[in-house]
Amino acid sequence: MEKTLVSPTTLILLMIIISQFMSIVGDLKTWNPSLPYEIFSQDFAARLSLSPDSVAAASGDFGGMVTETPAAVLYPASAADVVELIEFSYNSSSPFAVAARGHGHSARGQATAKDGVVVEMSSLKRNGGRIRVSWSESLGFYADVGGHELWVDVLRASLPHGLAPVSWTDYLYLTVGGTLSNAGISGQSFRYGPQIANVIEMDVITGKGELITCSKHINSELFFAVLGGLGQFGVITRARIVLDKAPTRVKWVRMLYDDFTKFTRDQEHLISIDDGLDYVEGSLIMTQSPANNWRSSFFSPSHQSQIASLISNHGIIYSLELVKYYDDETATTIDEELQEMFKGLSFIGGLVFEKDVSFFDFLNRVRSGEVKLRQKGMWDVPHPWLNLFVPKSRILDFNVGVFVDIILRQNKTSGPILVYPTNKARWDDRMSAVVPEEETFYCVGLLHSSRVNEWEELGNQNEEILKYCDEAGIKIKQYLPHYKTEEDWEKHFGKKWQIFQQRKALFDPKLILSPGQRIFSQSSSWVWSIDA
Ligand SMILES: Cc1cc2nc3c(=O)[nH]c(=O)nc-3n(C[C@H](O)[C@H](O)[C@H](O)COP(=O)(O)OP(=O)(O)OC[C@H]3O[C@@H](n4cnc5c(N)ncnc54)[C@H](O)[C@@H]3O)c2cc1C
Ligand SMILES: *[C@@H]1O[C@H](CO)[C@@H](O)[C@H](O)[C@H]1NC(C)=O
Ligand SMILES: *[C@@H]1O[C@H](CO)[C@@H](O)[C@H](O)[C@H]1NC(C)=O
Repeated sequence: MEKTLVSPTTLILLMIIISQFMSIVGDLKTWNPSLPYEIFSQDFAARLSLSPDSVAAASGDFGGMVTETPAAVLYPASAADVVELIEFSYNSSSPFAVAARGHGHSARGQATAKDGVVVEMSSLKRNGGRIRVSWSESLGFYADVGGHELWVDVLRASLPHGLAPVSWTDYLYLTVGGTLSNAGISGQSFRYGPQIANVIEMDVITGKGELITCSKHINSELFFAVLGGLGQFGVITRARIVLDKAPTRVKWVRMLYDDFTKFTRDQEHLISIDDGLDYVEGSLIMTQSPANNWRSSFFSPSHQSQIASLISNHGIIYSLELVKYYDDETATTIDEELQEMFKGLSFIGGLVFEKDVSFFDFLNRVRSGEVKLRQKGMWDVPHPWLNLFVPKSRILDFNVGVFVDIILRQNKTSGPILVYPTNKARWDDRMSAVVPEEETFYCVGLLHSSRVNEWEELGNQNEEILKYCDEAGIKIKQYLPHYKTEEDWEKHFGKKWQIFQQRKALFDPKLILSPGQRIFSQSSSWVWSIDA
């Protein structure tokens, strides 16, 4: 991961950009100096940074494994700046790449734009972006939110109204545009659907530089393309998010299992209860698991030593994690309701632990972990993550082949391993997001961190896991997918590949947007020349 020197292509690109801006400004000046467009373009040029610091900051991401240097970074003051940038590239005889960068929490350079322009979406916030909460008879409660907003800010803006979004990610310092480009999943998805299933309407700037409002009813092709669309069809500048009445508190429970079959059977049972739980997840606990996974305040010291001996006996134990929301009205019945639901579950006797926390603290639970890791210098390290959707019918095979035979045996793990079921009913097949064929599938997150220069070992383990699934015929789908060849992408999208390509031709025919996903490459036609 060495720093790339400024390449000739970069220089040429800069010359093109700069000369074109000069000519826009220049031309307009002679035509009509009072046109607002002229001022806008001058300001626009000022918001385009070529500084080494800006460029370096936009070259990498949370994954820490990929460095792709853009030629410039745009700090937009409004959506109009993004329109102008994309339109400019689209008009040019040698279009350059443009990538929206949300919070840069991708793992594999998906928000980078080699030799192109990265749009630092967060600068829209500095320029007065607002979150508006509204109600209408036909839509109920909703929030209009900039694509650049962090989910934690959406939560903070809606809670004072007694409202909140219904579908979440585990971690809230991710942007609305970034998660909607993937799916946005967590323990709530089984009940409320992924975040992409809770969007009413969006404003999107396509790869032609057109700002288009879309929904299921208006410009629906663009709407469905963008949801789970990996940034390939447009930049989301506004999303209208479904809100519902927010609970004030949650009962947060963890129970431990020494048997994977019982663990998954209970998870599947719990997500099948109508109007039951609000959140169901689960994780593996091994010697090499992060300490906070089980040496946490959830478990008393005496329980911690019991857990330690269970781990040494069994190799892996399983933690089922669930939540039921409540408020003043339901406070008196919540415990009884939970006890009713726990009847017949097969966790290890006595190993059930409960916390009672505020709704906000529960949703924001990963933040305190982040703060601790940062203090230890363990946050800004490489993250060779692998996220998979595994069909329910093969989860037991996956356990043996992957968790036991690869992960436990190789003993390389260094991060949480999440395993929880969800169901397909709330995933609209018209969206770009891809999930397995079965009604119920498991979300598996291998959330590794590694020392600098040591991530390749875990990367190889990930490859081995994918190879095992392929050979065993386990039809997994990658979430936050990362592939190297077009054949891999074709296989990933399956029956959606053709429509994905058609939508690309329709909304980004010059292959300008989010090249860091490495789905479409300009390859040989991507030649810069001054006289082009
Ligand atoms: C600690 C941590 C926890 C996580 N937990 C979860 C989880 O529980 N569930 C889950 O689903 N995911 C989770 N993720 C993954 C997360 O959803 C992705 O990293 C996602 O990319 C969002 O991050 P971001 O907002 O920083 O987007 P970026 O990484 O900046 O961008 C992601 C992609 O979307 C494009 N993009 C960004 N903004 C826009 C926009 N406005 N319009 C169009 N395209 C855009 C980018 O070009 C890029 O291709 C987690 C990530 C981290 C680091
Ligand atoms: C792009 O081309 C269109 C049509 O020729 C023109 O109206 C528009 O101003 C151009 N935009 C930019 C940013 O050059
Ligand atoms: C796994 O590795 C850790 C340290 O990295 C070590 O403490 C532990 O004993 C190992 N476990 C096995 C089963 O080899």
